[in-house]
Amino acid sequence: MNMDNQKLKIDSRLAQAGSRWDTRTGSVSMPIVPGSTFKHPGLGESTGFDYSRTANPTRQELERVLADLEGGVRALAFSSGMAAIDCALRLMEPGQTLLIPEDIYGGTFRLVEQLAKPWGLIIKWCDFEALRDNPAEAMLNVHAVLLETPTNPTVKTLDLDLVVKAAQKNDVLLMVDSTFLTPLLLRPLELGADVVIHSGSKYLAGHNDVISGVLAVKDEALAERLAFIQNTSGGVLGPFDSWLMLRGLKTLALRFNAAQKNAQIIAQWLQNRQGVVKVNYPGYGAMLSFSTDSHLRVKNLLEKVNLWIYAESLGGVESLITIPILQTHADMDAQVREKLGINDCLVRVSVGIEHADDLIADLDQALGE
Ligand SMILES: Cc1ncc(COP(=O)(O)O)c(C=O)c1O
Repeated sequence: MNMDNQKLKIDSRLAQAGSRWDTRTGSVSMPIVPGSTFKHPGLGESTGFDYSRTANPTRQELERVLADLEGGVRALAFSSGMAAIDCALRLMEPGQTLLIPEDIYGGTFRLVEQLAKPWGLIIKWCDFEALRDNPAEAMLNVHAVLLETPTNPTVKTLDLDLVVKAAQKNDVLLMVDSTFLTPLLLRPLELGADVVIHSGSKYLAGHNDVISGVLAVKDEALAERLAFIQNTSGGVLGPFDSWLMLRGLKTLALRFNAAQKNAQIIAQWLQNRQGVVKVNYPGYGAMLSFSTDSHLRVKNLLEKVNLWIYAESLGGVESLITIPILQTHADMDAQVREKLGINDCLVRVSVGIEHADDLIADLDQALGE
């Protein structure tokens, strides 16, 4: 764009994601460039694109947009959120200590326990509350922290400002998985975090049709190191999926705001619903979870819902119901799950953009007497 992009509101930047790239034809939609390899103009010369694992025009435009949204110097798009987290963890070296709260996506738990630990990282699990309430103490003798806020699936939150200050004081690399909030509600880099992570499969793409991941950073040296790791290990996002993400991003603000409004209404309604014993919702975002009075009620709910879809994942336009103990957190230690309240009465919902009245009516009939 010719105008100063940073002066535009985020909605305007989102709406025009990828729309100014094609100066040759003026295409308002970002072209999908499927080429895996690019002709060199001459010996030792390059157009800037050599081979698509290293850089691809469609992916590069997506990465430019993502870096701009997060307030970073560079973003990288991956073939999944897990590939992005794996790449971020490779900033560490064997023998270094990673602090990580137990309230974390089950796939991240599995990655850390079953791949990062055998690779040589020392994993220090902590209570989310310990990090939230006394971050400086929790960070003593650690090299890096990986956290989510709000957490998955109990949607606990923390004051990221406090955690950033402690990380800076202790010289700790701070990595924040910001999948649940998107750059609309939280921009960790602007607060001082080192690496922001997204499962792009969720709100950023937004239509339950792409698996992708994102890392963004504000430090050039860190960006270079991550790009080296990504190019070397190869988990890049393909051109078509990059385009789908660019298209999804255009409506992120509309989708997220509509879903958040629905979530606020539904959380309020659940508070007074017979059979619901606890509602976890921080008041913002569109993810919430609730505990019912019996597993039978959960079973009936899943059998009876018509509009809600019983499926994993989150952040798409369709409202989804997930049972974390059986799905997203199946690979977490049973003891840890029990401690966190992830039992067979816990239901996680990703609220979509259908009408709130319809979503409530469907939940009401499915929750039963
Ligand atoms: C908070 C969070 N981070 C990371 C991931 C992993 O992302 P992906 O499924 O795109 O690999 C997920 C997936 O559900 C998630 O919920």
